[in-house]
Amino acid sequence: MEFQELISKRYSVRSYKTDPVEKWKIEKIIEAARIAPSAANRQPYKIIVIETEGRKDELKKIYCADWFVQAPIVIAICGIKSAAWTRKDGKNHVDIDCAIAMDHMILAATDIGLGTCWICAFDPIEAKRILNLPEDIEPVAFTPVGYPADSPKPKKRKDIAELVCRNIWQ
Ligand SMILES: Cc1cc2nc3c(=O)[nH]c(=O)nc-3n(C[C@H](O)[C@H](O)[C@H](O)COP(=O)(O)O)c2cc1C
Repeated sequence: MEFQELISKRYSVRSYKTDPVEKWKIEKIIEAARIAPSAANRQPYKIIVIETEGRKDELKKIYCADWFVQAPIVIAICGIKSAAWTRKDGKNHVDIDCAIAMDHMILAATDIGLGTCWICAFDPIEAKRILNLPEDIEPVAFTPVGYPADSPKPKKRKDIAELVCRNIWQ
């Protein structure tokens, strides 16, 4: 898909078909994360591909919307803070790196006809428990991956003039 079309087509899908997602499509999505840039190329994350079949009630403890578990797959990206690049002033870049990798996956999924939705309003304690994450590993974001059963609404966004300044903050 042409890039402008791709970024325009992506939207937060909040209703999914239960149709299976082909294995090659999941591989393509993961490959998009694998080649994503990260600060100092540390790639400080692990991706967990979760099958929802038979685990819907358990997974809804992570994020309680019904549509979270409607799709056959949910992907989680988990940050390894100790492996991430840290700037001189102490700012750790794990969240930025995870966000870039997740967005690569989300755009890759859109490109092959799949729906996704960024999810950060999840329960981190339940997520850590259910995904068996070690103490120092943080779940950063989730997305369902499946065929959309809804359709996009018009995008509400700020105007360019509100978004952009010239040379200095103003
Ligand atoms: C970092 C981040 C976290 C988000 N968390 C949630 C969430 O927990 N639940 C949800 O329904 N949508 C979530 N969203 C989706 C946003 O609400 C959505 O992207 C925004 O309203 C714009 O709509 P669009 O994605 O359809 O263009 C999140 C998006 C981002 C980028």
